[in-house]
Amino acid sequence: MDRIIYLDSGATTFPKPEEVYQTMNQFYRAYGVNPGRSGYDMCMMAGNMVEDTRKLLTDFFGGENPNRLVFGYNATDALNLAIFGLLKAGDHAITTTIEHNSVLRPLYHLFRDSQVEVDHIPFDRKGFVHPEDFERKIRKNTRLIVVNHGSNVIGTVQPVKEIGRICREHGIPMLIDASQTAGKMPINVRELNVDVIAFTGHKSLMGPMGIGGLYVCEGIEIRHTRAGGTGVRSAVRPHLDEYPYRLEYGTPNLPGIAGLNAGVKWLQTQGVENIQAHEEKLLKMLRDGLREIEGVTMYCQDDLTNHIGVLAFNIDGLEAMDTGTMLDVDFNIACRTGLHCAPLVHEQLGTDKIHGAVRFGIGPFNTEEEIRTAVQAVREITLSRVKR
Ligand SMILES: Cc1ncc(COP(=O)(O)O)c(C=O)c1O
Repeated sequence: MDRIIYLDSGATTFPKPEEVYQTMNQFYRAYGVNPGRSGYDMCMMAGNMVEDTRKLLTDFFGGENPNRLVFGYNATDALNLAIFGLLKAGDHAITTTIEHNSVLRPLYHLFRDSQVEVDHIPFDRKGFVHPEDFERKIRKNTRLIVVNHGSNVIGTVQPVKEIGRICREHGIPMLIDASQTAGKMPINVRELNVDVIAFTGHKSLMGPMGIGGLYVCEGIEIRHTRAGGTGVRSAVRPHLDEYPYRLEYGTPNLPGIAGLNAGVKWLQTQGVENIQAHEEKLLKMLRDGLREIEGVTMYCQDDLTNHIGVLAFNIDGLEAMDTGTMLDVDFNIACRTGLHCAPLVHEQLGTDKIHGAVRFGIGPFNTEEEIRTAVQAVREITLSRVKR
């Protein structure tokens, strides 16, 4: 089979850097024991690697205290921990229509089951929310603002720094969902006025699946909504309040943390800014190429400033799913079609009525040649549709 052109990095990056596979294999074989639970050498080595990765990610996100970097399974898990741990019955939260279901659904459950009210700020024609819209919605009982940092459908990067400034003025914590941006662009929580950041390991951080987490800035206390083993101070009846134990439960994903460690180190050797520049160049090529094709509609791609390499489009008269199938079967191009777990984005774009859109997600290993092939494939599909 011809080599696949992988343009589904919005879902997960593939392949991973070789170091990630190697590290996971070697580390788990050599030190695959329960970290931090005992004092023998292997256990200490496993524990040291976990602590080293906390420090690595804390520095990576511009945080200060590695103990406040907690590991969970993925961004969904981390967002659930933060949202359920920061809101209670009678509170009000503000979010956006750009969110992924891993923000929308926890908030919906709180609305349905715990009388938490939620406002959703819409994005403008270019795909951006406006900080002043958040300020207008703040109430006495607003206890959380949750913002998608980079969209997994339209690729726009939101002005979180300005939204965070408003949050600080009103004493409201801001949580950002950095699932799409972490590893694609530099992020510094202090510079961006972020209180809590949720990340996932398997996308642009170049780690494996099943690992993600939160960095929680000083002064923000998230209630624990779970309880269990932490490996330390076992005689204490309730779950421990201090970080990182406060938000970690049971045996961690040790091979996942080892892989994430290798992924982040790989990013550091490449330079996140270099990866960002490479992906921006490919995004521009893709956007410019698709713009030339009559019958192709792209969403929020006119201005590529503050954009990551994610592009959604449709071909007039074709279902997104059919375009995706043709890209796969006829051209060996992998992409994602449908609503992308972000139903309100499609509702606002009106693409919910045509079953969503086709999404190309660019990753660090994509090449200019692959982008040219993808543009040509869309051209051929569009022409074949006209002939039919
Ligand atoms: C913006 C955004 N948030 C959250 C998630 C959920 O990430 P995970 O599946 O790793 O929990 C995704 C994944 O597609 C995403 O794109």
